Amino acid sequence: MANLRFHIILFLLCTSFLTLISCHCLPENHVTLFIFGDSIFDSGNNNYINTTAQANYQPYGETYIKYPSGRFSDGLLIPDFIAEYAKAPYVLPYLQPGIHDFTYGVNFASSGAGALVETHRELLHPIDLTTQLRFFEDVEKQLMQKLGDAEAKSLLSKAVYLISIGRNDYVVPFYPNSTVLQTYSKEEYVGMVIGNLTVTIKELYEKGGRKFGFLNVERLGCIPFVKRLDQRSNGSCFEEATALAELHNRELSLALQELERQLKGFKYTNFNFYSFLSERINNPSKYGFNEVKMACCGSGQYRGILSCGGRRGVTDYELCENPNEYVFFDAYHLTGKANKQLAELMWSATDPNVTGPHNLRTLINL
Ligand SMILES: *[C@@H]1O[C@H](CO)[C@@H](O)[C@H](O)[C@H]1NC(C)=O
Ligand SMILES: *[C@@H]1O[C@H](CO)[C@@H](O)[C@H](O)[C@H]1NC(C)=O
Ligand SMILES: *[C@@H]1O[C@H](CO)[C@@H](O)[C@H](O)[C@H]1NC(C)=O
Ligand SMILES: *[C@@H]1O[C@H](CO)[C@@H](O)[C@H](O)[C@H]1NC(C)=O
Ligand SMILES: *[C@@H]1O[C@H](CO)[C@@H](O)[C@H](O)[C@H]1NC(C)=O
Repeated sequence: MANLRFHIILFLLCTSFLTLISCHCLPENHVTLFIFGDSIFDSGNNNYINTTAQANYQPYGETYIKYPSGRFSDGLLIPDFIAEYAKAPYVLPYLQPGIHDFTYGVNFASSGAGALVETHRELLHPIDLTTQLRFFEDVEKQLMQKLGDAEAKSLLSKAVYLISIGRNDYVVPFYPNSTVLQTYSKEEYVGMVIGNLTVTIKELYEKGGRKFGFLNVERLGCIPFVKRLDQRSNGSCFEEATALAELHNRELSLALQELERQLKGFKYTNFNFYSFLSERINNPSKYGFNEVKMACCGSGQYRGILSCGGRRGVTDYELCENPNEYVFFDAYHLTGKANKQLAELMWSATDPNVTGPHNLRTLINL
């Protein structure tokens, strides 16, 4: 009897040893995050491309990280907080030289990018969503070489794909010389944005992606930068811009429900960025803010000119004393404090009107 037990233990030891040497098995709770989109998520890719959409100078980064990393905020971004909650390392920007380990994922987001390749192409030359997908294919290849096809496929299917896209597509039509709304109806234009996003999601699904996290588009007309684009601005939000965001958000919800029906195993969380921002604009003190109309850093009306740091043509700018009192750090981006509040809700809120059908914590463990 003792002998049999000994043999069983020996057998178990051998098989687990063989498993260890035969695959690069990652621990059960290993979290992989692939990040796509715009400046809401860009942790520094634009530092490595020829663009003026960069934030790698002071006062960006002044609050939490103590150096200007390229994040458009005084503090951390939403994916940074999410990585913290998931007990994973901060996700590195894909273009940062010298990254060899992609098993924790990587960040492809690029400030200025939209779902449409034309968005900011001439003005900022960001890495558009399609190019971000090509970069992802390169990472997929490297993971297959490192882990083998089966293990790489397993990693890609357990990974979470976070995507923040659309706001830039919906700001461009309100630039003074834009002809977008003469060329397309609002419905057509939103249809193109959602169409291109859907194509991206389907390609990621084809490569094994199953778990997705989205932000819908915030109440665009209340952002200082966008308020300034209103020719007749009288201090209130620019409702015509908000209307495009609302149309997008309705179409996005429908598109995601449709994808869930079409694609077996497709699961997602869609964070209601729109109501998140609305809530804080309507009741700032409830959330610990006391300035929601004006940005902390910038110049002009509402500090709505994107001149924070003085490196983008306009050298003069104002900087508030305490970014934690503000929702907007610069004319177009949230403070680290607001980002943290958003990430917390996206991670663990149980109200489907806040984030649904799953929250990220549940999604990761599914
Ligand atoms: C960067 O872009 C600017 C403006 O589009 C262009 O004039 C310049 O030549 C580019 N620089 C490099 C190094 O490609
Ligand atoms: C708009 O067009 C005018 C005339 O063609 C040009 O001078 C101006 O620079 C343009 N403005 C922008 C923001 O592109
Ligand atoms: C994607 O966007 C382009 C414009 O950049 C548009 O012509 C095309 O129809 C869109 N694709 C889909 C599937 O909507
Ligand atoms: C200010 O603009 C808003 C939105 O366009 C409008 O509803 C409101 O009547 C305007 N107020 C004044 C005083 O013009
Ligand atoms: C979610 O929003 C809808 C429509 O605004 C509302 O009817 C419903 O009560 C809300 N649900 C929760 C749980 O707050």
